[in-house]
Amino acid sequence: MSQRRKFIKQSILGSALFLPGVAASCAQKEDKNPSTGEKPLILSTWNHGVPANADAWSKLKETGSILDAVEAGVRNTELDMGNLSVGLQGLPDREGITTLDASIMTGDGACGSVAFVRQIKHPITLARAVMEKTPHVMLVGEGARQFAIAQGFPLEEEILSPQAQIEYDKWKVTSQYKPIINIENHDTIGMIGIDANGKLAGSCTTSGLAYKMHGRVGDSPIIGAGLFVDDEVGAATATGLGESIIRICGSFLIVELMRQGRTPQEACEEAVKRLIAKNKDIKDIQAGFLAINKYGEVGAYAVHPGFNYAKATESGNVLIDANSHFKP
Ligand code: GLY
Repeated sequence: MSQRRKFIKQSILGSALFLPGVAASCAQKEDKNPSTGEKPLILSTWNHGVPANADAWSKLKETGSILDAVEAGVRNTELDMGNLSVGLQGLPDREGITTLDASIMTGDGACGSVAFVRQIKHPITLARAVMEKTPHVMLVGEGARQFAIAQGFPLEEEILSPQAQIEYDKWKVTSQYKPIINIENHDTIGMIGIDANGKLAGSCTTSGLAYKMHGRVGDSPIIGAGLFVDDEVGAATATGLGESIIRICGSFLIVELMRQGRTPQEACEEAVKRLIAKNKDIKDIQAGFLAINKYGEVGAYAVHPGFNYAKATESGNVLIDANSHFKP
């Protein structure tokens, strides 16, 4: 059996229990390599992270680049026709138009993002082009689409996927606009990874909140909100209601808490605590965070139960239930 097939098989069979991290502590930690970390390591949000991790892992083995890996991984989800929260098959905005957001970052501070972009099958690759081929960090809307055309990206036909059309037609019956992400809703793929030498990278891509206002942008393309990476410390990514994550600059907050000595788990828990304090109607808001530090230690935490994530290491690719602030 090929290494890739063996890995995917492990991914499908794999499962693990999540052990919550130690209690939060403000104490500064010594800068020593803990024995619990693993490298290389790739983490991604939700169960769509399992096949995404498998592609990321194959790419890492093929090119040795953690940046290539996190791009390839989420491209898998961008093409997944069963997924209604990522890629052009995602649920549209109130006007029936699907608009996409994505960001990518490496641990040396390089980053790129696109927001409110239409007709592009792989917004993550467009975000990487912004990072590598422009002096800018973020392009939005028509400007992002023009840049894509100039870079040779094909424009896709602007029609909803059959499933998205069915869901949109159902929604139009009431057109009730409730900007919440339900706890069962598998929203966004955020992926963070570290290679064997400690180089970090991350990616995040989404079609955003279903039935959002036309022009609404969530956390995923905002560097520091949906994604933040720093080789000196670690990386973090977010999923859930973008507005709640932007309010606390969630991913940046987690990386900075790790810089101050928190473990990834402690940092994720503190970010959720902050998010709960800064957002009203928290019973209706789901948000979750993933983090890795430079030693390959992992953190994951959500507001409500139901958040899971995929973790790939040399020993396999497993889906893990994250712990949450509110209990089942
Ligand atoms: N987390 C994705 C969004 O709110 O758009």
